[in-house]
Amino acid sequence: MQPDTQLPNSCSPVRIGETMPNFTARSTQGVVSLDDFRGRWLVLFSHPADFTPVCTSEFVAIARAAGAFAELGCDLMALSVDSLFSHLAWIRAIHDRFDVEVSFPVIEDPTLEIARAYGMVAPDAADASSVRATYFLDPEGILRASSCYPASVGRSVAEMLRTVTALQRAQQGDVLVPADWTPGEAVLEVPSHSVSDILAADSATDWFYRTRPDGDAE
Ligand code: BEZ
Repeated sequence: MQPDTQLPNSCSPVRIGETMPNFTARSTQGVVSLDDFRGRWLVLFSHPADFTPVCTSEFVAIARAAGAFAELGCDLMALSVDSLFSHLAWIRAIHDRFDVEVSFPVIEDPTLEIARAYGMVAPDAADASSVRATYFLDPEGILRASSCYPASVGRSVAEMLRTVTALQRAQQGDVLVPADWTPGEAVLEVPSHSVSDILAADSATDWFYRTRPDGDAE
């Protein structure tokens, strides 16, 4: 089945702050549209190929963490250029070998239409494999963060979870989220843009770098 998309016919990647264009495609959970996920956070991730070692390790790790993503109100969706039947056979193999159920949808993208539109393959790529692209979408379908790994290195599921929690905290608007932050740790105050505040600050760095306990988190 050709994906039914409103995707731009271009290879330019979607940028942070943009609404991810909708698509409708076949998946291991039936026909899905990106817009079906509106109202919840979504991690959409591509992988180079089914039945490969690094991808298998990622699917096992992500499937085992599915409950932790659900607790954050975050759905999961995977995509590769392999066929739906390949996805189904691979999920069965993962189940048999690792006793893990991959219950999130895995989309087929044999024409690369979705992968190209989202920048999951380079415009001049020598083969059809998508890279390990990860897209973090907010409940409005807006891209809030993304990452890109090569075929040879698997992603960190802990960092995917941390990214979702950090994005959710930052989206409350009143603070900034520092490096390596995890929930409960101190956050950063949004710096003032006023000269009078800057001159009134206790030290020469206080105006642009001030931490505070995160007790005020909503
Ligand atoms: C892997 O997942 O192990 C893999 C996928 C594509 C190329 C090389 C390795």
